[in-house]
Amino acid sequence: MLQGARVVLGVTGGIAAYKSIEVCRRLVDAGAHVQPVLTKGAGRFVGETTFSALASEPVRNSLWDEDDPIPHTTLGQGADVIVVAPATARLLADYASGRSNDLLTATLIATRAPVVICPAMHTEMWEHPAVQDNLAVLRRRGVHVVDPESGRLAGGDVGHGRLADPARIVAAVDAVLTEPDLAGVNVLVTAGGTREAIDPVRFIGNRSSGKQGHAIAEVAARRGATVTLVTTSDQPVTGPIEVISVVSAAEMHEAVASRSAQADVVVMSAAVADFRPVSVAGEKIKKSGGIPEIRLEPTVDILAELGGNKRAGQILVGFAAETTDVAANAQSKLAAKNADLLVANDVSAPSVGFEHDTNEVVIYGAAGTATEVALTTKVGVAERVLDAVLDLRLQSPAP
Ligand SMILES: Cc1cc2nc3c(=O)[nH]c(=O)nc-3n(C[C@H](O)[C@H](O)[C@H](O)COP(=O)(O)O)c2cc1C
Repeated sequence: MLQGARVVLGVTGGIAAYKSIEVCRRLVDAGAHVQPVLTKGAGRFVGETTFSALASEPVRNSLWDEDDPIPHTTLGQGADVIVVAPATARLLADYASGRSNDLLTATLIATRAPVVICPAMHTEMWEHPAVQDNLAVLRRRGVHVVDPESGRLAGGDVGHGRLADPARIVAAVDAVLTEPDLAGVNVLVTAGGTREAIDPVRFIGNRSSGKQGHAIAEVAARRGATVTLVTTSDQPVTGPIEVISVVSAAEMHEAVASRSAQADVVVMSAAVADFRPVSVAGEKIKKSGGIPEIRLEPTVDILAELGGNKRAGQILVGFAAETTDVAANAQSKLAAKNADLLVANDVSAPSVGFEHDTNEVVIYGAAGTATEVALTTKVGVAERVLDAVLDLRLQSPAP
């Protein structure tokens, strides 16, 4: 977990150094205490001012720092994790051979903290046997490597060697710091808002973005769970997650119904339509035809169905987006649907709910508990929801 973690962010002199600014920002946003360490080479590509302004500490770049007589041991011993992004071919060679000729390599040699290396270079450099041998040595020593991706490289070339996406890098750092307390647990998550077709171009939808459900799936995977995500959203997913894309409430129902029996935990965070048009027009309804009458019929109440079929030991988590009487509505929904936890948010409050990256919720438990989660990121909410799930599993272990 990145919240409160002390992270040394090493930046070396590759063209992708500008992306490490985004890595830095994301680490800080996730609550980490970030100390940037730049090589001289990195200083040719990106400015120290940017990192010093975004990170938790000013940039360090010298072994001969007057305020700190032994900076590499201070940094190495104080870190919970060290991440180098981007890592040049030079850095890989020096680290693999144990050469400590600058602050970053000296810190890497002086630490017992886990290390995450994110190489980035041109395809020819990446494929060079010396680079691959150095990486093999580092991997063998337990260094975590976030492999580069394929795509556009500097100078207009296209190939393998591009720095991994910042979100992937931050997820990898988080994974290294995260205890796999959900290992062996099968988690099924739904996310997004369903769309109910009126005709080939129009639909009845809602404002759910899927961000909260995706965060729950990603955090569960990071904590070791086997995760299936049934989602209406096409936002990218980070981590080993089986993604089932759906559009309508009926498709979501079918996807969930066929997988729920195997799930130890089902988290229904999707906003599923309560009603859909009785019939879908085969062609676009013309304005010239006058005001159409669209008759609606109820969709299947997936949460209620899951509650009715719940097997012993299975944990069912529902979500309630409310605009009034949040507590009363959430508690009655919890009981009516036979859920174990109900996560309620007041979507009329600022920075909460649909489309935002932040959320503020209360997690109600069937035993009468109410856990308030103050305004935080959706990842932060996901952590707390899964903590509550874990507490329930510990109280009544699955048979
Ligand atoms: C424009 C430019 C781009 C470079 N991009 C990379 C790169 O992506 N990866 C890499 O390993 N080296 C790259 N290099 C070479 C490194 O900058 C060089 O090896 C330098 O000594 C690395 O220094 P450092 O590892 O101490 O930061 C590049 C050099 C230049 C001039």
